[in-house]
Parts: sequence; C-alpha cells; structure tokens
Amino acid sequence: MDTLLTPSILLLLFSTFVWSGFLEYDQDVLIPDDWTRAGRVDPSEELELTFALKQQNVDVLEEKLRLVSDPDSAQYGKYLSLEEVSSLVRPSEVTHKAVRHWLHSHGITNCRSVCTRDFLQCTMTAEVAEMLLPGSRFQRYVRDGRTIVRSSAPYSVHDDIHQHLDFVGGLHRLPPKGQDQVRKDPGGGGGVHMGVTPAVLRQRYNLTKADVGTSQSNSQAVAQFLEQYYHPADLVEFMIMYGGSFQHRSQVDRVVGTQGGGRAGIEASLDIEYIMSTGANISTWVFTNPGRHESQEPFLQWMVLLSNMSDLPWVHTISYGDDEDSLSTAYMMRINTEFMKAGVRGISLLFASGDSGASCRHLGKENTFRPSFPASSPYVTTVGGTSFKNPFKVTYEVTDYISGGGFSNVFKMPDYQVGAVESYLKSVAATLPPRSYFNSSGRAYPDMAALSDNYWVVSNRVPVPWVSGTSASTPVVGGILSLINDRRLLKGLPALGFLNPRLYKLKGQALFDVTEGCHLGCLDEQVQGKGFCAVPSWDPVTGWGTPNYPALLAALQAE
Ligand SMILES: *[C@@H]1O[C@H](CO)[C@@H](O)[C@H](O)[C@H]1NC(C)=O
Ligand SMILES: *[C@@H]1O[C@H](CO)[C@@H](O)[C@H](O)[C@H]1NC(C)=O
Ligand SMILES: *[C@@H]1O[C@H](CO)[C@@H](O)[C@H](O)[C@H]1NC(C)=O
Ligand SMILES: *[C@@H]1O[C@H](CO)[C@@H](O)[C@H](O)[C@H]1NC(C)=O
Repeated sequence: MDTLLTPSILLLLFSTFVWSGFLEYDQDVLIPDDWTRAGRVDPSEELELTFALKQQNVDVLEEKLRLVSDPDSAQYGKYLSLEEVSSLVRPSEVTHKAVRHWLHSHGITNCRSVCTRDFLQCTMTAEVAEMLLPGSRFQRYVRDGRTIVRSSAPYSVHDDIHQHLDFVGGLHRLPPKGQDQVRKDPGGGGGVHMGVTPAVLRQRYNLTKADVGTSQSNSQAVAQFLEQYYHPADLVEFMIMYGGSFQHRSQVDRVVGTQGGGRAGIEASLDIEYIMSTGANISTWVFTNPGRHESQEPFLQWMVLLSNMSDLPWVHTISYGDDEDSLSTAYMMRINTEFMKAGVRGISLLFASGDSGASCRHLGKENTFRPSFPASSPYVTTVGGTSFKNPFKVTYEVTDYISGGGFSNVFKMPDYQVGAVESYLKSVAATLPPRSYFNSSGRAYPDMAALSDNYWVVSNRVPVPWVSGTSASTPVVGGILSLINDRRLLKGLPALGFLNPRLYKLKGQALFDVTEGCHLGCLDEQVQGKGFCAVPSWDPVTGWGTPNYPALLAALQAE
C-alpha cells in the first residue's frame, strides 16, 4: 500500500507546488534551434516586463459579447466604449494594491498602465527581475541579426501575488519565424502565368468599380510582428501597376509602432497591398512591431495597445500564430479575454489560419494534428486559403493544401458553430482521420476562406510572383468586411463587430462553398500526409467558403 501511495502523494505535492508558484507551468521554455544564445544579460541591463493583472467580470464580458454579436438579440450592435469595457473588467482594488505593493517592495516604480488597468508595463534591471520572479534567468538570443532577451527557465511569483496575476509577459514566447511566402513556379516555367492581382480578386469576388469605400468614419488595419517593414513606395508602385481599374488609396494613413529601415519584406508588403485592394478607398492603418525593448513580446504589445486606444479601426487583420501546445493555457485564456474586449467594442479581428494544413505533432510514436493559436480562439474570425481550380483562369476555387484548419485542444466548441461542425463530423464520419489525431469537442476553424495562392506583390520596387499563404487571404477578406462596414456606417448601422455568430447563421448563404481538396496533415501511415478534406457546407479546411461580395453585402447590411 505504502509503496503504491508514496509516488502519488509526491505527485500531488508537486502539482500543488507547481500551481501555487508558477503562473505558466505549461509554457514551453525551450529555445528553438534557429536562435543562438549570446550570453547572460548583464545584471544592470534594463528590461520591460508586462504584468497581466486578474480582471473582474470576465463571465459578464463573455455574455455581453454574445449579446452584441448575435443578430437575434435586442442588444445586437450595441457596442461598449473602451471606458465601459474598463469599468467592467478592470482589476479590483485588492489586486491593484497587492501587485503595486509587491513591485514597490522590489524597488520597481517605473510602470505604465492602460485605460482598462489590467496591464502594467514596468522597467527594471535584469537583476531585480530575477529576484522578483524566482527561477527566471535572462539570456540574449540572436536570429538573423535580431536580438531578443528571454528567460531560459520558468519563472515563479510570490504566493501572495499568484491569485492576482494571469501571467508575466517578456520572459518566454519567441517571435515565430515568418513563412517563406514564395513558392516555386508550379508550371515549370512554361505556360502563361497569370497569378492573383487586385483585378483578379475583384472579378472573382464580384466587386464592381463602384464597390469602394466612401464613408469618412470607416477604417481598417493590418497588424504585423515581423522583422521586416512595408515601404510606402512599394504600395505606390503596386497601385500604379495593379490599381488601374478601381478607385483606391496609395498611402497608409497611420503607422502605429516602430517602422524600421532596411529592406522591405514580402509579407509586410502583402497584407497592406491587398487589404487596400479589396477594402479600396478605405482609410488604412498599420500596426508594426510595437515595443522597443528586446524583452517585449510584439504580439502582446499590440494587445496591450488596443486596451489603451479609444479610437481604433473597425477591422484588423493579423497573420500571426503559434502552436497551441507551445503556449501556456493561462496566456491563451487571457489573450482570448483580450479578444472579447475588442469584440464588445465592435472590432472585428481576423486571423490567418496558418500555412501547414492540420499540421503535425510527433509525440513519441504517436502523431496528432497540431492546432494553432490565435486561429483556434472562439472569439476571432479565422481565414483559410484556396486556389483556383484552373490556376490560369478565374474559375471556381478548391482547397489550397496549406490552408490551416482543425480543432482546438484548449477552447471548447462555441455554441455558434456547434450545428455546423456536428453536421460536418456526421457527414464525413466514414472518412475522418482517426479520432486520436484531433479533439472533436474543441473550437473548430477556419470560419471562412479566400484565395491564398499565386499572388503578385511589389516588394523593394519589384513585382514578385507566386506569393502564397493565408497571410494573403486574410487581408482580402478583411477588406471585403470593411466594405460592408462602410455601407452599414453610411446607413447609420453599427459595424459588424465579432462576425462569427452572424456568419454561422447564414449557413453558407452568400459564400462560394469550397468542396474539393484536402489540406496537409501528418506524414505517416495512418493519415498519409492528409488532414481534413473540404466538403459541401462548413468544413475545417475552408470554413463556409469564400465571399461573394454582392450577396454577402445584401445578407449583412440589414440591421
Ligand atoms: C496608455 O496611455 C496613457 C495616456 O496616453 C499613457 O500615459 C500610458 O503610458 C499608456 N500606457 C502604455 C502601456 O503605453
Ligand atoms: C458573382 O460571381 C459568380 C461567379 O463568378 C457568378 O456566377 C455570379 O452571377 C456573380 N454575381 C452575383 C450577383 O452573385
Ligand atoms: C473615397 O473616400 C472618400 C472618403 O474617405 C470619399 O469622400 C470619396 O468620395 C471616395 N471616392 C469614391 C470614388 O467613392
Ligand atoms: C479537448 O478539448 C477540450 C476543450 O474543448 C479540453 O478540455 C481537453 O483537454 C482536450 N483534450 C485533449 C486530449 O487535449
């Protein structure tokens, strides 16, 4: 008996200990091979850390989001201001006092807060940070000439503070590597290469010359967290080359963040050039690498910024994601709450679904699919990718095999999609991958899709062909939603806000259903490289399909 009990008691003690000291006990702290360690950070060096304070009324916020996003609710479109969000979720006085006291007792006084008072950003030396957060060890890492500071070991916090914080940002989570966006010439160099341009997209999605923004109060944004920048001159050149057939803008109205020098990146040029081609003549902002410290997490910085800006564009598209299994649950839960905070304000957040299909995780001999976050959040709209059936013609669309999709292991399936996902699971039951590969009770994504293959992009003044990925389809959908917002705003209606509850009620009406092709999965005997396959109606490869603008406008411009 004793010998049987001892290990389990130890385990129990150990897990109690883990729960009380470490906020992010399940955070992956391994540094990927492509980063090189460049030594310990000098104790006197300054770091900036972000403290995510425990919020109040998160359940009320969630219910509020459900009501303002459900077209059948009397509260539909009755969005909250940032001030109102703040009075709902801001941390209690007890939490504030406890955290401030803890920081002060370590001599940390240089902190900035946000309007919602649920984040604190503080600067301190590495020496103080390591005392404040026992376990942490700050190192410098280098990749492609960029350096960052992260902790090589997990951090803990004092027991008195544990209940007042969700996590501390700036210790883990390295910026994911940008995708290699240029695919090889699929035609072997021979045939006429057409490729996707604004004219092709506008033709496919039925946008006429008159379908451009006209509302003064409309705006849209792309957020990017890459080590690369868009160049204003590339956008001008792109519009000269490809913008001839529709009224457009050739300038970004506002850049928030640090727009560094250096060469332009293809990915950085891509989102801006294409959101401004479907969301034509609409004021456009770019959020780029917010944060200046080597210790900051750019994506988190952007989230913090949203809680401190009362006037924001209505639509944001973001091509950013990480494996769910590499992130702590506490972090994902909190970021998900941040998405709710944006949603109740009427802001639409669109995330690329990823470029590795269902993706694959190798666990010993077992393989499973590998969901990606934030694509797997129930409170964002996730966009997958398609190709033309005939790559040289504007034909119907089929699955782009890279299109990210699958089922979350962290977030349970939200009510708005239960019907759609269950009928998918039922209709393809005989041909589904084995259940051990995915979690059929999780949030399923993507929600919709658009072309993601064979784009022309102007980068460093040169047109580049064969640019691909869901980072192309996401701004295309974003621009189209912005156009619909434009018409709604002109009619005095509220913006679309968090779209999914309304999108799923359309049951695919007003979208081009994608019914052919499968995306990538695990390269093993069981699934042989495949993930899921597109079928009629919703599927976890292309969602409900791609936008037919006039039909979607008609469906979404009613109150
Ligand atoms: C938020 O905005 C206020 C007022 O503009 C500013 O004082 C504060 O430093 C900002 N917070 C952060 C974290 O940047
Ligand atoms: C939109 O495009 C499709 C296919 O390109 C076409 O069949 C349809 O007639 C077009 N117009 C509308 C209003 O849906
Ligand atoms: C472009 O948008 C502006 C408002 O931002 C509007 O005044 C103008 O009429 C629009 N152009 C067209 C062709 O609709
Ligand atoms: C499956 O997803 C649910 C949430 O929907 C989660 O609670 C559960 O732990 C997941 N299972 C696995 C094996 O990850």
